[in-house]
Amino acid sequence: MARILTGVQSTGIPHLGNMLGAIIPAIQMAENSNNESYLFIADLHSLTQIKDPKELKYNTLTTAAAWLACGLDTSKTVFYRQSDVCQTTELSWYLQCFFPYQRLTLAHSFKDKSNTVEQVNSGLFNYPLLMAADILLYDADIVPVGKDQIQHIEITRDVANRLNHQMGSTLIIPEARVVKDKQIVPGIDGQKMSKSKKNIISVFEGTKTLQKQIMSIKTDSKGVNEPKDPDNCTVFNLYSLVENQKEIEALKTQYISGSIGYGDAKKLLSQSLLKKFRKQINRFHYFMNHQEEVESLLQQGSSKARKVANKTLGRVRQKLGYSS
Ligand code: TYM
Repeated sequence: MARILTGVQSTGIPHLGNMLGAIIPAIQMAENSNNESYLFIADLHSLTQIKDPKELKYNTLTTAAAWLACGLDTSKTVFYRQSDVCQTTELSWYLQCFFPYQRLTLAHSFKDKSNTVEQVNSGLFNYPLLMAADILLYDADIVPVGKDQIQHIEITRDVANRLNHQMGSTLIIPEARVVKDKQIVPGIDGQKMSKSKKNIISVFEGTKTLQKQIMSIKTDSKGVNEPKDPDNCTVFNLYSLVENQKEIEALKTQYISGSIGYGDAKKLLSQSLLKKFRKQINRFHYFMNHQEEVESLLQQGSSKARKVANKTLGRVRQKLGYSS
């Protein structure tokens, strides 16, 4: 039996990259009765960017609704809000005291913003160790994530090994699990889809928004009847991530023979996404309209999460010489 754990930061409505790279694979792993699962909303991480309480709350709701819409079953999974488990921040402090400052300066989450270092708050700097606490607090074995999070899992493994080495075996060393063909889902500019790059495609923001996002995917300037290279086209790449083999081959043939323009290919992609995620979109709206139900599910999950967290924290506190 393996313990699966992963989280999504609540900085906006989860996008297609979040869904294909982490949410859907994590839920699939949670469906396996040989696994135990902990899936959550990383709303403490969001505070590094968002200081508006209303926005923070709303984002927590949309992120929770997206998890549930994608099929998370709360009878099989501990589903919770990170900020409901204050044990996370305590463990994060302990981990900070075992990890070299210099190593943290190399983390992408900080390095990417280090040219505007005056705008970097200490929370952002310590972000990877809050994430390490998220994982280590639940003795997670496997962490399904997109490729961008691998460095954070390496830091998690590193700090857990350092603490184990100095204090004796205390923490479980987790492993990242990345879905090969979905590790970097491209956004409308062909770069990694990311909320901060404003290049997202989101199935949960309404049909019009989705179509607009897809129509703005960058392509080359080949005309309708010119042969096109499917492998170097973001529209085709995204289509391949969601469609079945027969449909993918059909579009590939049209690209190579020059019998489809980018406009029509984009329409196909929109239709395909709306069809594939119709159930999830309906469920998302259901949960957005039933906020008390979402809140109640989160509170039940958080209560279960705290029990597990207390056990691990007790073990760590005892090793460190604090009362457990
Ligand atoms: P976040 O919220 O940026 O992303 C959530 C998950 O979605 C994956 N992802 C992608 N996968 C493929 N292609 C993309 N374009 C893409 N964009 C995002 C991410 O890799 C991630 O798996 N720090 C984390 C949240 C977090 C967490 C944790 C994750 C906090 N604590 C503990 C795992 C375990 C984050 O900001 O992910």
